[in-house]
Amino acid sequence: MDKRQKLTQELAFQKLKEIHANVGSSIRIKDLFDQDKDRFQRYSITLKTPSDGDILVDFSKNRINDEILKLLLTLASDRKVKEAAEAMFSGEKINFTEDRAVLHTALRNRSSTPILVNGTNIMKEIDEQLDHIKEFVNSVHSENWLGYTGKPLTDVVNIGIGGSDLGPLMVSEALRPYNKGLRLHFVSNIDGTHMAETLKKLNPETALFIVASKTFTTQETMTNANTAKNWFLKHAKPEDISKHFVALSTNKEKVVEFGIGEANMFKFGDFVGGRYSVWSSIGLPVALSIGFDNFSKFLDGASFIDQHFRSAPLEKNVPVILALLGIWYSNFYGAETHAILPYDQYMHRFAAYFQQGDMESNGKYVTRSGDVVDYSTGPIVWGEPGTNGQHAFYQLIHQGTRLIPCDFIIPAVSQNPIENNKHHKILVANFLAQTEALMKGKTEAEVKAELKDMKPELAARLVPHKIFQGNRPSNSIVIEKLTPFTLGALIAIYEQKIFTQGVIWDINSFDQWGVELGKQLAKAIEPELEKSEPVSSHDSSTNGLLNFIKSQWK
Ligand code: F6P
Repeated sequence: MDKRQKLTQELAFQKLKEIHANVGSSIRIKDLFDQDKDRFQRYSITLKTPSDGDILVDFSKNRINDEILKLLLTLASDRKVKEAAEAMFSGEKINFTEDRAVLHTALRNRSSTPILVNGTNIMKEIDEQLDHIKEFVNSVHSENWLGYTGKPLTDVVNIGIGGSDLGPLMVSEALRPYNKGLRLHFVSNIDGTHMAETLKKLNPETALFIVASKTFTTQETMTNANTAKNWFLKHAKPEDISKHFVALSTNKEKVVEFGIGEANMFKFGDFVGGRYSVWSSIGLPVALSIGFDNFSKFLDGASFIDQHFRSAPLEKNVPVILALLGIWYSNFYGAETHAILPYDQYMHRFAAYFQQGDMESNGKYVTRSGDVVDYSTGPIVWGEPGTNGQHAFYQLIHQGTRLIPCDFIIPAVSQNPIENNKHHKILVANFLAQTEALMKGKTEAEVKAELKDMKPELAARLVPHKIFQGNRPSNSIVIEKLTPFTLGALIAIYEQKIFTQGVIWDINSFDQWGVELGKQLAKAIEPELEKSEPVSSHDSSTNGLLNFIKSQWK
């Protein structure tokens, strides 16, 4: 592999460093607005979707001016973001540590353009997999697929973890208004409580278990799947399994070994990473919830962004701009976290989904050629829906000591305009107020004017506590309405942002070796929990904890 120029040696990076050192702390976003009446127009992008309204991305409330933006764009161009994107879209094995292509984008390739992996056009198998999903979903919805006592299915239990859980869970929650009637449950945790509490809600005659695991070897998923099978077999016969268990996986051998026949296996290629797999057969629970047509629209939304990402120039490219802003704050201002704040209750798992999407992708400290980086990479991603977050952690965003870049996301039109849309108008007012408050802050003079009727000694004591420094950056993303299409588009925007940052940081965003060590050690500890004598094979802390827990079992 060609060794790339170190990021910190890129000319654009060095110039940005210089600018940051000279003026970084004195850039005031508010002043930038005062100086440029057109700032909103110039620092926002509107994407016109073919069917679901406009997507507005406003990045004007950031600590950037034309010079900084230009240098950031030069950095993207010098780091060959566009070329790297083409390598991904065309099926090059960019996940070189696993010798794999990265083609979640092929799953939503709505054109007839072939995509070759090892000389084979994978679009054929992807179309077949989609047909399989469609056929199954339609037969469940039309009640042709019945449980072992002849009753229609009522409940779907997805058993998976990580990408085989968070994607279907987040998306089916976000698209709850499109639900066709099936109740969805998600069991991920190895903690028996998760499965036990779910089983309490089920009738074996009407429950469908989806065992979702790319590898079909993940300890949590396989343990939970076996528990579900044992529970089911207390009520039904082994031959009934075929009506109540399906598998989503790449591992045919293990699926069959578990007892699920090939006809009940929904396949996908190994070029689909777990955290990017909601577009594949892993999306089956979503399709069961919202119907196949809506699932297709979800793919269309992502495809729309893929086309935008490939064709829009860097300066008009939403994922690229969002990625560059993240780089600006993380690599120059030292911001350690990034908050995702959807103002939509249906999107309550969106930030959690991108905790995996971003942190598992870009939480890497070596470059593609194996050198330790001398700059920070992926941020800590977190967030909760507004307005709940406002009453919990926004205090720290407004007045804490850390710089926290935030993305605010809102649909202009509510799915539930109850009370004459009153709730939604209050939600919108809060969405707008927060980014304005973060940017403007409140000066000493403003606070003093507010407290003018108070006793002077008391007012003087209060003033410092009521000052907001402001100048806290945010992006605002507005969609017309939360639909399968717009949700697909939003997810793809973040996916391609993460991709762009990975290219600039020169890391492999598509492996996840960092999750392996803990898995290995857990495997070693498991048999030690069975031994009656005290354990002494670890450090004194691990020994002490282990022996204490075991002593509580007696
Ligand atoms: O442990 C991390 C991980 O490998 C994720 O990348 C993945 O999404 C999750 O586990 C589940 O993996 P699988 O789908 O193979 O069960």
